[in-house]
Order: sequence, then C-alpha cells, then structure tokens
Amino acid sequence: MELSNITGLKGKITVPGDKSISHRAVMFGALAKGTTEIHHFLNGADCLSTIDCFRNMGIEIKEKETSVYVHGKGLHGLSKPSCTLNVGNSGTTTRLISGILAGQSFETTLSGDDSLNSRPMKRIITPLTQMGANISSVAGNNCAPLFIAPGELHGIHYDSPVASAQVKSSILLAGLYADGETSVTEPALSRNHTELMLKEFGAPIRSTFEIGGTKATASVRSCEELYAQQITVPGDISSAAYFIAAGLLVPDSEILIQNVGINSTRAGILKICEEMGGDISLLHEHTSAGEPVADILVRTSKLHGTTIEGAIIPTLIDEIPIIAVMAAAAEGTTFIRDAAELKVKETNRIETVTDNLKAMGCEVLPTNDGMVIKGGSKLKGATIHTLLDHRIAMAFSIAALIAEGNTKILDSHCVDVSYPSFYDTFEQLL
Ligand code: S3P
Repeated sequence: MELSNITGLKGKITVPGDKSISHRAVMFGALAKGTTEIHHFLNGADCLSTIDCFRNMGIEIKEKETSVYVHGKGLHGLSKPSCTLNVGNSGTTTRLISGILAGQSFETTLSGDDSLNSRPMKRIITPLTQMGANISSVAGNNCAPLFIAPGELHGIHYDSPVASAQVKSSILLAGLYADGETSVTEPALSRNHTELMLKEFGAPIRSTFEIGGTKATASVRSCEELYAQQITVPGDISSAAYFIAAGLLVPDSEILIQNVGINSTRAGILKICEEMGGDISLLHEHTSAGEPVADILVRTSKLHGTTIEGAIIPTLIDEIPIIAVMAAAAEGTTFIRDAAELKVKETNRIETVTDNLKAMGCEVLPTNDGMVIKGGSKLKGATIHTLLDHRIAMAFSIAALIAEGNTKILDSHCVDVSYPSFYDTFEQLL
C-alpha cells in the first residue's frame, strides 16, 4: 500500500465490532445452552480463528454478514477435535481457549503462526498448572504449540504479575470447571469484558477494586449452566483509534465515529487525546450488552506532548503505536513508561514503533518499558516494515497522511487480523 499526505478528512463512519468482545461472545456462546446471536461481529482473521476452533470441537456456528449464530451445547458440550486447533495470529484465542480446554475431558493441541508461536505462554501455564491443569509447551520453550490433557481443577487465588486480560480471562474460564472459588488479582485493572459478559451469561462472577489503590480482583465459581444471549458488539475503540488520530492530525478534518465502545478499561486513548490538546467529544452515550457506547467526534487540533505511565497503560496498550504517531506530530516530548508488555505483542512494539518512526525522521528513543518521542518535526515518507503486525500497518498508514512524500506500507494486508475493511473506511473520508 502506498500513501501520501492529504487534507480535509470529513465524514461519518462506523468501525467493525470490538475484537475482544467478539472473541468472548463466540467462546461463551459455545459454552452456553441454546443459540447465542451476535450482531456487528468482527469478521477479522483473529475472531475467525476462534470460530474455527469451536467448530472443530463440534459447535455449529453460522455466519451471515456481520451476524453470527452460535449453537452452544452447554459447559460440558465440547467434543474432542480431530486435528490440532489452529489459533492463527491470535493471542486472545490461545490464552482464553487454554483456560477452557484445561477443564475438558479430552486432549487437545493448539498451535498458531510464527508470531503467535513465539509469544510467551508461561503466564498462563503457571496459574493453570497451579489449578491442577495438564498444560505444557510442546517444544519445552513456554510457547505454543500447547498440549492440554484432562486434569482435576481446583480454585486458586492468583496474584498476577502482569495486568493482562488474557491471563485473567484464562484463569477465570478454567475457574468455571474448578471446585471452589477462583480469583485473580492484577496490579492494575485490565479490560473487563470477560467479567461483564460472563455475568450476562449467568456465571457467578464478582469484581472488586482496592480502595485508593490500583489493584483489581475478579473471582468466579463453577455453575450448572451458562445461558445463551443476544449481543450487539460495540465498535472497536482500538480500530476507531486510527481515525481519531487521523481526525486530530490531518489538517481541516472533522470525523464522527459512531457506536464505539468506551468501556473505561479500554478508553485510555480518549483521556490521552484530551491531555494532548485534542478536540474530541462524546455524543449519544448509551449502553449495549452491558458495555458503554458513544459516538466520537474529532476535529483537527494542535497537539502537545504528554507523559503516559502507570495504571492507564493497560487501558490503551493496543493504541500505543498510534499514540506514538500522534506524539511524533505533537509539539514537545512524550514519555511512555510502564509499557514493557509492548515487547510481547504481535511484534516487539517498542522496536517496531521506534524503528519505523526513526525511518520517518522522528527523533525517538526506545527504552526498556516504553519510549521517549521528541515531537514537532515534519515526518518524511518512508518504507514501513510492519513485520505483519496489523497495528503497525494501520498506525503508520495514518502517519503517512501527514508525512512529506510517499510512504510504502509493506505487507499492508496484515490489517485483516483486526480490521479487514480499514482502507475502505479510510476512502469514505476522502
Ligand atoms: C486482549 C487483551 C490484551 C490486548 C489484546 C486483546 C483481550 O492483551 O493487547 O489485543 O481480548 O483480552 P493482554 O491481556 O495480554 O494485555
């Protein structure tokens, strides 16, 4: 994909359904009795991997445009797959499904692409093993492929060293098959879609927040049944983020992004845009499937640098690539700290973000847990090495719109992982 600078992005758009919520709706629907209807589902490659895994375990799932019908067979209705489950590029599929598989009475192996098979799985192997699961890394390197055999699960309390919704959710899902209570405390609250949605499906799940601190605990007990739901998935704020940035950065722009999920455990980018001086407002706030939703209106703004650190990090972890692009265009310096988790995403995003920003002429320093970005100088067109990371492709496509000269995004098709129609949405604004 080749892109160059433009002005005047104008219009009203919607973005595809939230990736995290789409995954969970299929998983919990498969474990519930009856048909779960999911509307505005994200047809991205990651969520299709989740569908594929459950089809391989005997769950009938019908797709019609962006609606998905999951014919769940109850908590104990999955059957042994005849092949290795293919989790593709999806960390969410891998880690959440592992919690579910730990509670089954059959053996499974799951494996993904090269990027997925190099991401750390010890973070789930450790707590699931403590619960009594039989889960191991086939190559003995604490990465996928993972082999999971039946085990007797019992509830534990787990103090997670990382604020990760994937780790938390994996443990809570195993907790549905464990005796007693299973609880997870995280150092800062990560996205809470599992807690909100499992409650809607009828699971006995509770969340508490440490008064005056940042630690958060979620706990669950096993139950007889989950009950099928009708879910309309809100627009993905992580996808909206690229158009929020485009609206703020491209001169003479005004963009309305309709029906975006603004759950506070995901909406850190909105706070940061405001702190950077962005003209951004929320309209028509309402709730859908237990999740807060709004339209987001953005207008071109003069941005300034900021410091991003601490408990806000898990609420914007996937948006750091595009926030870094905004920081490069902003006046002054932006410091991003406490974000070492960036190193274990689809790529090492401290490296992929800073390498590509440097290629565009930005003065940026990678650090052990983030980066320091000196903003304000004009970006120059460059060749962007996405390393097949969807968020790098999209973030630098927006950078291209304000850079001098042409920018070439290598392997831009990787946007299919979370936003197959990304470049079509963009065209609606021209
Ligand atoms: C996700 C959680 C986050 C996020 C990922 C989706 C989820 O990962 O980066 O894209 O759906 O639970 P961690 O929980 O590992 O931070």
